[in-house]
Amino acid sequence: MPRKVILAGGTGTMGVILQQHFVERGDEVIVLTRGRHGTLPSVRQVNWDGRTEGPWTKELDGADVVINLAGRSVDCRYTAKNKALILNSRVLATRALGNALSKCAKPPALWINMSSATVYRHAEDRAMDEQTGESGNDFSPQVVLAWEKEFFAHQRAGVRQVAVRSAMVFSPRGGAFPRFAQLTRVGLGGHHGSGKQFVSWVHETDVAQFFQWLIDTPKAKGIINLAAPNPLPETELMTALRKRIKPLFHINTPTWLLPMGAIMLRTETELVLKSRRVIPNRALQLGFTFRHPTIHTALDELCNAPTHQP
Ligand SMILES: NC(=O)c1ccc[n+]([C@@H]2O[C@H](COP(=O)([O-])OP(=O)(O)OC[C@H]3O[C@@H](n4cnc5c(N)ncnc54)[C@H](OP(=O)(O)O)[C@@H]3O)[C@@H](O)[C@H]2O)c1
Repeated sequence: MPRKVILAGGTGTMGVILQQHFVERGDEVIVLTRGRHGTLPSVRQVNWDGRTEGPWTKELDGADVVINLAGRSVDCRYTAKNKALILNSRVLATRALGNALSKCAKPPALWINMSSATVYRHAEDRAMDEQTGESGNDFSPQVVLAWEKEFFAHQRAGVRQVAVRSAMVFSPRGGAFPRFAQLTRVGLGGHHGSGKQFVSWVHETDVAQFFQWLIDTPKAKGIINLAAPNPLPETELMTALRKRIKPLFHINTPTWLLPMGAIMLRTETELVLKSRRVIPNRALQLGFTFRHPTIHTALDELCNAPTHQP
């Protein structure tokens, strides 16, 4: 049966993946956006500011699913201003949705809020899952904890809530994968730092299937990791990428050089140096099956895919 699905902040990398998935299923898709962006033709855009209630709130009444993807990109310099934007854009958008949901006569039965696998500490020693994982103390994990705290503060009878602690989504449409591929093409596809840091990732096909599975699985609630079950050391990821992209040469980037590169690329070294060794224990226990559990088939597909935006 077609559903009414609201994608708050659904214009970014994950939003485009989910727009396509739900449109192909025949669902009615509404994107809450602060501006006018490219969306698929059958997707309806409704404006919001990501923080205050307004006419957009009536879209939630009678909807089946709300998925909140809103948040300022973390791929930037962590200045005081950007840090405030990263935190506030997530917490305030979540709060606005929670307040709007509390006033619905017929609230959606499912509210999924994005969270992030970066909540776990730097981990080369062992894998982090929902039960035994330890959270980090620095800026990014603290943002995620504040985001989840706000989300779970808005409980309402009849509304199932899931916080999705997602690893890096590997998609040709944007985010981390095109950047790794670009670095490899220009000869910077060796390992970064020691290369021993783990990379947790998930293929875009599994992202779409995972959200559909959450909708179809009433037992799925609370905090759930979204990451392929086989995170791998960065040096192995870069080797696998080079095998497919076949650059003429590659150099490794030592830890001391990375801060300079990060300034030039207007990003932070954390995004490549933090060891994210995250596994999706709850999803596996609840029966989710990954189409791309290991990096090899995922890269075969990604390296052959055209880049495309709606
Ligand atoms: N992609 C990943 O690998 C990944 C991994 C883990 C977690 N996540 C999290 O999942 C969410 C979605 O990821 P994504 O890759 O789709 O992110 P994205 O490409 O950066 O898109 C996020 C959307 O949030 C909206 N937004 C940006 N700044 C905002 C602000 N100040 N207030 C309200 N809305 C704002 C934008 O929509 P409008 O401009 O249309 O309003 C934007 O399209 C993000 O919160 C991200 O942190 C992503």
